Amino acid sequence: MLLSYWIITLTVWLCQFRQTTAFTDYLLKKCSQSGFCQRNRDYAKNIQSSKNIYYRIDESSIAFNETAYTLTANILKTIPRSDIDDIIITLPFTLNVLNESNAIRFTIDEQRNSPDGTNKLLQPERFNSLWKWAFDPKASLQAREISMSRTTPVISQRSWFDTFFHIGEDPSEILLIEDKTKNIKIELALNKFEIRVFHHDEIVLSINDRNLLNLEHQRSIENNFQNVLPEESTFNMFADDFEYSKDDTIPFGPESVALDFNFHNFQNVFGIPEHADSLRLKDTIDDEPYRLFNVDVFEYNLDSRMPMYGAIPLMFAANKKQTVGTFWLNAADTWIDIHYDDMGNTQTHWISESGNIDVLIFLGDTPADVLQDYTTLTGKPVLPLLSSLGYHQCRWNYNDELDVLTVESEMDKAGIPFDFIWLDLEYTDNKQYFTWKPDSFPNPRRLLSKLAELGRHLTVLIDPHLKVDYNISDIVAHEGVAVQNNKGRVYEGHCWPGASIWIDTMFAKGQTIWARFFKDFVPHGITNLHIWNDMNEPSIFSGPETTAPKDLIHADGLEERSIHNVYGMTVHETTYNSMKEIFSPQDKRPFLLTRSFFAGSQRSAAAWTGDNQANWDYLRMSIPMCLTNNIVGMPFIGADVAGFEGNPEPELIARWYQTGLWYPFFRAHAHIDSIRREPYLFQEPISTIVKDAIRLRYSLLPTFYTSFKMSSINGGAIMKPMFFEKPQYEDLYPVDNQFYLGDSGILVKPITTKDQFTTEMVFVPGIYYDLDNLTAITINGKDVASRTIDAPLEKIPAFIEGGHIITRRDRYRRSSKLMHHDPYTIILAPDLNGNASGRLYVDDGETFGYEKGNFVDTQFSLSEGKIIQNEVLHASNDDKSVGNTKIETVIIAIDGMPTDNIQETATIKIGSKEHTVAIEKSDNDHYLTIKNPLIRIDENWTIAF
Ligand code: NOJ
Repeated sequence: MLLSYWIITLTVWLCQFRQTTAFTDYLLKKCSQSGFCQRNRDYAKNIQSSKNIYYRIDESSIAFNETAYTLTANILKTIPRSDIDDIIITLPFTLNVLNESNAIRFTIDEQRNSPDGTNKLLQPERFNSLWKWAFDPKASLQAREISMSRTTPVISQRSWFDTFFHIGEDPSEILLIEDKTKNIKIELALNKFEIRVFHHDEIVLSINDRNLLNLEHQRSIENNFQNVLPEESTFNMFADDFEYSKDDTIPFGPESVALDFNFHNFQNVFGIPEHADSLRLKDTIDDEPYRLFNVDVFEYNLDSRMPMYGAIPLMFAANKKQTVGTFWLNAADTWIDIHYDDMGNTQTHWISESGNIDVLIFLGDTPADVLQDYTTLTGKPVLPLLSSLGYHQCRWNYNDELDVLTVESEMDKAGIPFDFIWLDLEYTDNKQYFTWKPDSFPNPRRLLSKLAELGRHLTVLIDPHLKVDYNISDIVAHEGVAVQNNKGRVYEGHCWPGASIWIDTMFAKGQTIWARFFKDFVPHGITNLHIWNDMNEPSIFSGPETTAPKDLIHADGLEERSIHNVYGMTVHETTYNSMKEIFSPQDKRPFLLTRSFFAGSQRSAAAWTGDNQANWDYLRMSIPMCLTNNIVGMPFIGADVAGFEGNPEPELIARWYQTGLWYPFFRAHAHIDSIRREPYLFQEPISTIVKDAIRLRYSLLPTFYTSFKMSSINGGAIMKPMFFEKPQYEDLYPVDNQFYLGDSGILVKPITTKDQFTTEMVFVPGIYYDLDNLTAITINGKDVASRTIDAPLEKIPAFIEGGHIITRRDRYRRSSKLMHHDPYTIILAPDLNGNASGRLYVDDGETFGYEKGNFVDTQFSLSEGKIIQNEVLHASNDDKSVGNTKIETVIIAIDGMPTDNIQETATIKIGSKEHTVAIEKSDNDHYLTIKNPLIRIDENWTIAF
């Protein structure tokens, strides 16, 4: 036992430091090595051939609460026995439609008591309150008025009925639940458990039509044989024979939940991060299912369904007419099988190790509708500090105060803007979080104040593992706020500091104590210090599959098994709340980076894609990974530029910065063993290319910030997949190497291949202006078309789609803070009718003053290539917050419109006043410029030209 412990520890340590190519994937289970995954795959196969039905609604139990608009009933699971009476298990079922978020919600639970032999320290019930973590505390769970009637199935649907109802007889009677507001009908079959969902009178989803519902009910090892259905396998029900998790005590025995969801007429499904895989999810029928299980995967495998650091169990099925979002609210180890069938449908099978079934279905005309509703329930993404949208300079590690200040001044000398510098692990005294290494950082306040003077922020790493035997871990242990082992004693495992214990942020007391540590750590009055929660899956070098043993115990008797995927979120949310509280006298917003995340993480944190490698494949993969997170409400994400592990070649560095500048979170980071690579160290031409990329990011900050603001209102994507912007073009669904920036109309295809100097981009019909010089290409016809675009090393293929107006700030400054008093440039990209529009949002970028109305929100438009207009939607309630509001330049792209009638001057009207300004034509004849038009973003005006 002891020997195997050290072998695992050594293996994982080696894995963290090795320089080879990929994750040691034998550390992670395959489905066939995971008891509950394999059992459910076997069950799926067997039940579809036996066609036996074991789950039925108990008709006598059906009740409809007329005031809460909630249907309740019992599902009965019957285990037929010839020797004794059938065993009947009661599974309470609820269904309603949430009014605010338009979600159809149903739950299936189990009434159970602790059977003999179960660990008495654990809550006997299934964990059924994950929603308290995942849902925004502000979200309303009020159900909407729905009607319920007992009727026959919709006759006109019989054709799909025969095709899709694979198992059981057609129900002759159903319960029909109607939500007239949204034109939703839900049919609940009465002769088996099955739900069919219709939107706009078309069936979009059927649940359990393949009969894969499986809830492994409570039983003991002794009477297990009576409780097993003929279609079930008993593989690893009470023991785990996987090499690294043999010690799992599995106190409740088998307790998985599984269900199938079939999306009708949907041939594309997306979402369920985090995986290093394509945006469009793959068919897993002859392969591994997608797995959601938060783990530390140094140099993770690419094009893989293996689990990663974060988990958001939200899947989109989209076609050009509508979108269905399925949110499987479960934080246990989860596997998802996907099959695109020959009839144009997508069949999915969801399997979780424990917990209850709590499902939310979102129906919308577009993916954006679904995302809006999902984020109404789980929370809108945080509006970040404007500075945190700038460039972040990180490495493992900046060694001491002098090193930090040298990087700061060298960046400055090289004319490269940045906002955040980072301190990784080694700034601590002996890897003891909430301390600073005394010789290297003797005076943190001095360092932070100096950085603040220079307009910079500092982020430092604080992980949830705490080295044993120092004051912080002593408090955690003594106050009873450490995660416990299966005997109820403080759990000890290995991480960076060696022997460590873990803070339990799953309950109020743990949160209060964690908050207290930050209070003592942050120098009084400092607000440019921010936190990075790393290793919070949690990563445990000595643990099974690099993480926590599943039988650990959290507050209130919750087993790690059931809460695993949400633990990391409880850590970072507690950290965020602590920092918010500390900054509250100055009303400043904290910035927080987390590695582990779950549904709801967007309310407080940014995330990144973890330990990638400095090679072209990881650069390519960073795009679909960021896109996937963006469509599930977690948009503030990026990948380590220019690859964490290894030493990138110059061309890769250039291309990675040209890609990274579009990540919502733009941070360079490097492994401790890599050669120093701060951008001022590069040779020409790379140094200029990198500088230009970072400067382009800064000039577009007004556009980025506006996108973040919109996302904080509607949950929308910032790095947005093609299909998300144009769902009516199904050819775009598989495209995951080009994307839009929010709603700005900026369309980018970074180069992610070595020695590639042209690229094929796809466009829908319209006109597109090159972001650099506004020369246009036009796509005629009705279909998606591709064009070859030049991409020499210094060039990023990027366009503004006709119909949009974007805003820039063009003067070089050292950091975003210093741009606050700079004027704006607006760029108009007319569509083929000469129309365009664009939004701009501005506030002070750092406080919560916007909640008091201290912001400007404005809408620019261009009509028929003649009149530009600004309509202020909201003018700031105070004068100071928004800084300079002057527009210094107006640029109008003209390739798409007739220019014969364009005058030499433009007439500008502000209220009743009028003045004229000269119009200049560019040397390349592609655009007009109006300089110094004497207009502002926060007043209404028109420009006629
Ligand atoms: C793992 C993180 O993924 C990486 O970014 C960090 O540098 C190391 N931990 C050290 O803290």
